[in-house]
Amino acid sequence: MKSARRRMVVILYGKGGVGKTTVCSHLAAQYAAGGRKVLLLGCDPKTDTSTRFLSGKKPPTMLDMVEGRFGRRFSELLTRTPSGVDIMETGGPEPGVGCGGRGVATLCQFLEEHPRELASYDVVLFDVLGDLVCGGFVAPLRFGKGNCVFIISSEEPASLFAANNIARMTRRPYYDAAAVGGIIFNLRHNDAPQGHLASFAKKIGVAVVGSVPRDPLIMEAEERGLTVQAHAPSSKAARQFAVLAKAVEAACRSKRSAKAAPMGNDEFWAFVRQHRIASL
Ligand SMILES: Nc1ncnc2c1ncn2[C@@H]1O[C@H](COP(=O)(O)OP(=O)(O)OP(=O)(O)O)[C@@H](O)[C@H]1O
Ligand SMILES: [Mg+2]
Repeated sequence: MKSARRRMVVILYGKGGVGKTTVCSHLAAQYAAGGRKVLLLGCDPKTDTSTRFLSGKKPPTMLDMVEGRFGRRFSELLTRTPSGVDIMETGGPEPGVGCGGRGVATLCQFLEEHPRELASYDVVLFDVLGDLVCGGFVAPLRFGKGNCVFIISSEEPASLFAANNIARMTRRPYYDAAAVGGIIFNLRHNDAPQGHLASFAKKIGVAVVGSVPRDPLIMEAEERGLTVQAHAPSSKAARQFAVLAKAVEAACRSKRSAKAAPMGNDEFWAFVRQHRIASL
């Protein structure tokens, strides 16, 4: 059994569409390729965390389990993939019925019911849905020791707003255990002004862990149901994810930005105006 100290729990939050699933999937693939035992948890009704590992085929979901389509054994929800990444997906309720956050909380409860199986993993990654909007989405923070929050943002104001909100969430007293490993910038436009990004990270007291440029190869691989490591292993994009995986691990282990210093909303918009940050 792996000790809790060794295990790394990476929790990615960011605005909708900013690249959480992309970054999470590629980190998972990188750690698995390095011989780690990896559990990737998709917390999104789209059930797309597994897309790049199962060529788009949909795995069983937590919702299927709750609805009684199979039992509550760990192995029944788990999907093993050829890349070595093990995956679980929450799935999601019918639109207008139920609550996505509840699905995340239910998955976390399920993991807590299986401590032995969970402890067998070296790396656990949570790909959490959308902006931080409800209590259910923060359920992964319950895993305490070894967990580390990473914020993903583009260079755009709405994405930075969500990033600041996520930093605010980590300061709530009841999530005191939540260390922020740092921020990952997943660029929407490679040629957009980026001077404000380091200032933003500094302002909210988090380290910049890495930056992922926009690269059409990432979408090309996704369309084929693959990670870039599998689709184009010697590409620049694949190398960039290898670098990012190392940086995420180093940040997770060092917890150097354990306490974020987020802005209030008015201060945030003043920052946007001061730096002339615009949506493109
Ligand atoms: N750096 C990048 N270069 C090119 N395409 C990218 C990059 N990052 C993400 N994408 C593409 O952008 C789309 C959205 O990314 P992704 O699904 O990872 O976002 P998300 O934050 O998980 O979205 P959601 O909030 O809906 O879960 C995907 O089609 C993905 O392939
Ligand atoms: Mg996603």
